[in-house]
Amino acid sequence: MCGIVGYVGDEECANLLVEGLRKLEYRGYDSAGLAVLGEKGLSVVRAKGKLSNLEARLAEAVPRGKTGIGHTRWATHGKPSDENAHPHSYGGVAVVHNGIIENHLELKESLGKAGHKFSSETDTEIFAHLIHDEMQKGLDLPQSVRGALRNVKGTYALAVVSDEHPGMLVVSKNASPLVVGLGEGCNFVASDVPAILAHTRDVIYMEEGDFAVITRKGVEFTDLAGAKLARPSRRIDWTPTMAEKNGHKHFMHKEIHEQARALTDTIRGRASIEEGDVFLDGCHLDTKLVQKLTKIQIVACGTSWHASLTGKLMIETLARIPVEVDLASEFRYREPLIDKNTLCVAVSQSGETADTLGSFREARSRGARGLAICNVVGSAIAREADDVLYTHAGPEIGVASTKAFTTQLAAFFLLAVRLGRLRGTLTPEQGRRHLEAIFEVPMLVERVMKYEDLIRQAAYKFSHARDLLFLGRGPQYPVALEGALKLKEISYIHAEGYAAGEMKHGPIALIDEDMPVMVLAPRDSAEEAGVNYEKILGNIQEVRARGGRVIAIHSEGDTKVPQLAEAAIPLPQTNPLLMPIISVIPTQLFSYHVADHRGTDVDQPRNLAKSVTVE
Ligand code: AGP
Repeated sequence: MCGIVGYVGDEECANLLVEGLRKLEYRGYDSAGLAVLGEKGLSVVRAKGKLSNLEARLAEAVPRGKTGIGHTRWATHGKPSDENAHPHSYGGVAVVHNGIIENHLELKESLGKAGHKFSSETDTEIFAHLIHDEMQKGLDLPQSVRGALRNVKGTYALAVVSDEHPGMLVVSKNASPLVVGLGEGCNFVASDVPAILAHTRDVIYMEEGDFAVITRKGVEFTDLAGAKLARPSRRIDWTPTMAEKNGHKHFMHKEIHEQARALTDTIRGRASIEEGDVFLDGCHLDTKLVQKLTKIQIVACGTSWHASLTGKLMIETLARIPVEVDLASEFRYREPLIDKNTLCVAVSQSGETADTLGSFREARSRGARGLAICNVVGSAIAREADDVLYTHAGPEIGVASTKAFTTQLAAFFLLAVRLGRLRGTLTPEQGRRHLEAIFEVPMLVERVMKYEDLIRQAAYKFSHARDLLFLGRGPQYPVALEGALKLKEISYIHAEGYAAGEMKHGPIALIDEDMPVMVLAPRDSAEEAGVNYEKILGNIQEVRARGGRVIAIHSEGDTKVPQLAEAAIPLPQTNPLLMPIISVIPTQLFSYHVADHRGTDVDQPRNLAKSVTVE
């Protein structure tokens, strides 16, 4: 949501800022703009819509200057328009902001009484006015921004320039992400690392309440009161090419195909087959701690919530600890029963999702130990956790999560084996068998990719559907939910995921030839067809009896399911708890090809933001 990028150095920065904003497009936006400080003072250029609209405006006259800030806006207060686009400026001060100012109406009223006129409907514009007023008192820019922030209640990542301070960026963070990049003879600020990855890999993640003054020579961190802070930099191992499309038409397609690599990176170095055990750097779980746990509480949103439903199954099966999974947006307001014997697991690709972060804080404030499963190193959730289990998916740019989901499942599986070994519910031999299975998964994932043509044909055949139902049982139920979410996000086809056994309790009424049904029907394991398989065969028959059209995802070698389906996609078989990592892939590719065929904006679907940093 909203992207910020800022630069101060020796280069003309307008194009550099636009390039940075392009790398933040995945966050979702509906207008964009930049402010550049040069010899002629402050120039602000803004445009509603895509970055190409901003570029068209810039082509008329590129603002010259070596200090600047840029922004992609995802509308909250005020519709998408040129006027509401950031930067907002007043009296030589320009501001970009990600977050929500809760007391903006109050502030607007009092500024209005003092004679201020506003040119937008946004909450952000208030900052420019407040900072300008402070500067009128003879304060410098850092003091003025501090003064303005003292009046504001809400969340923000903020970057400010003033024509009285060429060569200076003032930034501050409260609840919305901001990262400072350290260059040579130049420095940067951005909402996320990909925006600056082409220029530096040395970064400092800002903490809550941090305030920084950035010049080309260096960065000075203080708190809001002005007390100096030491903030060490870290070198990130993402490379600029990891944030490129590498010949794929869309990031989503590239990320689907990266899953074997991402899974290998997530598993590698964390498990020993000989010992039948897992070693999780950054997770300080030991027998004493784990034995006293009475429950595990997982909080997450969207795709991460679907991964958590499978995580529950893995942990309960392998470690025999009760696990609850909550949508983070519900958990934080429901007076949850949490105490010091609870382990709260927050699951988030970005590590910045506002509801997940809020719930994690809520659980920890009630005494729970906090473990984060995150992809972004140094993100807010990771920083606040007692234990961190990073997924090594690499940057995920497509708004629709793919490799984040499968690597989260791998992380959960490793965690479940570790907990099982610590609690004694898994013997070394059992641990060994599970680990052998997960080591094989990346290779099986590669094998599924070979069916892409078949999946594409099925996608084209059903791409005109208005509604689609996804059914799964047991470990395949969360996959059904995830398949439906993926399809609706990027193709705008209405889709529902259902536990197949629930079909008779309602959704069966919808079934006819206009409501295709994708059924996740692998065998339960290599050894036996299993109860889930037998039952779902019955569900397929029920769909067919009502004229429904079936797209089936089935085990390689199975002859029963394909006979009942109009399109059938085979899958290699693995341990049932790991099967969701394999079976989700055809659903990702199916959604991708449906959306691509329909010509939607696959990587940046309408109305969606990659990380939802506001409630
Ligand atoms: C997934 O495709 C979504 N775009 C979305 O549901 C996402 O999973 C959710 O917003 C949670 O994000 P997080 O993992 O970064 O916390």
